[in-house]
Amino acid sequence: MSQLIELYTRMEAEAEARAVEPWFRIDRLPPSGSSHERTKFQREIPPGVVDRFRDFKIGGIGLEPQDYGITLADYLSRPNFDKLVDDPIVRDPKAERLIQVLVREQLKGAQPDVVQAFLHALDDSLNIGGRKHVVGFSRLIVCSMFSLKMAQRALRMLAVLHRHEVRPKVLLEIGGGYGKTFSDACALLGVRTGIYVDLPLNLLLAASYLNKLSPGKVNLVWSDDAEIREGAMNLVAPWLLEEKLAMPVDLALNFLSLQHMQAATQEFYLGILRRNGLGHLYHENRLHPRDRVEGALAGSASMTAARTLESQVASRPTFYSPDGRRINSPDGRGTNLTRELVVYGQLLRFD
Ligand SMILES: C[S@@+](CC[C@H](N)C(=O)[O-])C[C@H]1O[C@@H](n2cnc3c(N)ncnc32)[C@H](O)[C@@H]1O
Repeated sequence: MSQLIELYTRMEAEAEARAVEPWFRIDRLPPSGSSHERTKFQREIPPGVVDRFRDFKIGGIGLEPQDYGITLADYLSRPNFDKLVDDPIVRDPKAERLIQVLVREQLKGAQPDVVQAFLHALDDSLNIGGRKHVVGFSRLIVCSMFSLKMAQRALRMLAVLHRHEVRPKVLLEIGGGYGKTFSDACALLGVRTGIYVDLPLNLLLAASYLNKLSPGKVNLVWSDDAEIREGAMNLVAPWLLEEKLAMPVDLALNFLSLQHMQAATQEFYLGILRRNGLGHLYHENRLHPRDRVEGALAGSASMTAARTLESQVASRPTFYSPDGRRINSPDGRGTNLTRELVVYGQLLRFD
């Protein structure tokens, strides 16, 4: 673990020095604004956090306040890296019953392979912390509200990919949180070479998670002397991607992270992938930017160059205060309600 932290510290220093490059463009971000991940820079990790990181408040790894069993107000009042979860397994009959109902609903009439895939992603038994429940189905499963969301996402994605017979051998995920979707997708699609790219803090957590899940499979591409290896789970620092990626990616994935990036950063990633012969991109993102910093993904050069094979658009209510700030609950007087268009599963083909 100390070796991992040492490598991370060096990578983080490199990130600081290069943060103005297109993979982040920190110079064009407002001084605050957590949805753009600026707060991830210059963060020292307190001891004990990496091993059980799901117990702690760490923004931008895919978890929401409800995944910790607390309210948004409580979440926001806590400092970064505060311990939010104490009990390894929660006994909460109401939550367990809810999970049972939601799972049964989701799997009604599903084929056995779909049920297997769902149960794989629903499993949250790995020792990385988090608020877990033991829920009885045909067997007991250690899962969480978070893994339930991830399992629903996995089924949505698999259904689309199967319909279009996308069978990737090389898969790359941009902005993968801590690696759950990445590892589930690699396992469920029979991927041989996985490539995960994210910011340094996330690379560190993904290394911790994937090393526990698949010991010996993880390859850290965090410095110039490392290479992307076939047959491995490669965790790549963003600024090294262009130089190190020497193979075509069959399938790129993105969930809720391209939408937060600046246009130059969106194009940085998609451009590298296209120049390397990208096959397909499956993503779930907001269609239109939420503020002036975010790039308009729907109109980006790469997205418009691709052919949409399938796209399910939903509209999601979002609340704004009278001064135009986005807020999370409609309890302020004079609140405006806007509906944002979100794509739940768009598959694009690049020719
Ligand atoms: C809202 S989180 C989504 C995480 C995960 N994909 C999910 O859906 O659960 C956004 C992710 O994008 C990553 N991210 C943000 N800016 C990035 C950049 N410039 N390059 C790579 N990853 C970035 C964050 O670190 C984080 O993992």
